[in-house]
Amino acid sequence: MKRHRGSISMMACAVVVMCAGCKVVPGKPGPEAERPTQVLKFAVLYKENCAACHGENGKEGAAISLANPVYLAVAGVDRIRMITANGVAGTLMPGFARSHGGMLTDEQIAVLAQGMESEWSRKDVLGVQTAPAYASSSTGDSAQGEKAFGTFCASCHGADGSGVSSGKVHTGSLVDPAYLALISDQGLRSLIIAGQPQEGMPDWRSDIAGTGARPMSDQEITDVVAWLASHRIAAPGQPYQHP
Ligand code: HEC
Ligand code: HEC
Repeated sequence: MKRHRGSISMMACAVVVMCAGCKVVPGKPGPEAERPTQVLKFAVLYKENCAACHGENGKEGAAISLANPVYLAVAGVDRIRMITANGVAGTLMPGFARSHGGMLTDEQIAVLAQGMESEWSRKDVLGVQTAPAYASSSTGDSAQGEKAFGTFCASCHGADGSGVSSGKVHTGSLVDPAYLALISDQGLRSLIIAGQPQEGMPDWRSDIAGTGARPMSDQEITDVVAWLASHRIAAPGQPYQHP
């Protein structure tokens, strides 16, 4: 739980920093100063707009790693471009397109999406496996999800999702309403599909050496998300509206 609070306030800080950077400084810019809309270098755009939440090099940030080839392969460039433009309503992921109150041009957003693909993707990352669909197309069964959680997640996140097992804190709580208030169901699904390689969390194939684990089915992922989401509470000020 501590970690989640940290993550969320880190991201909130990033919002403030971003806005500070948006202010036009009064006075004459040097003749060689680039106007913000002219920046078309992926590394610069990423660092200035995304690194604070998604991590310096697309990993180890408070929000999902974007430099994760499994994530990139499952989500695809077009979807990533759209999410970057529109943001994710009810979460700390802002929309960057002008039409969504952001500061980036469509061209800059395209450079970002293409840049992630060319810098961070890996062609053969899914191997022979058929990856689950990015978005769920069925309804989740929370009771089945609890069972699947026991099979695939409990060893690290505790049987109840609290991150505690045998009296030891292993990870942040996944069932804390304060955590669930700031992440969408798709956000949970994306993390389960892509894993958190830097933190030792496997992707949906769940191939932890020596455990004989099998890949999760699409339905199992949907069910686990439904079970986690069942811990949401309707509270005033809860930004994410569970559909
Ligand atoms: C203030 C923090 C913050 C900043 C800055 C930010 N993001 Fe995000 N981003 C988030 C959070 C939080 C989520 C998870 C939203 C959810 O729960 O679905 C997210 C989700 C995403 C996703 C979707 C992940 C998925 O589940 O498919 C993409 C793509 C993304 N961000 C790209 C970017 C890019 C590109 C930038 C920079 C232009 C950026 N983000 C800047 C916080 C941020
Ligand atoms: C081998 C251990 C391991 C397994 C198995 C595992 N995780 Fe994780 N998971 C982690 C670690 C470590 C983190 C990062 C530390 C943290 O978030 O406290 C993490 C992070 C997460 C996060 C992101 C939390 C955040 O801060 O945003 C979610 C969501 C998550 N796991 C869900 C699951 C689900 C659901 C499963 C089962 C389908 C699963 N994990 C299986 C180790 C694991």
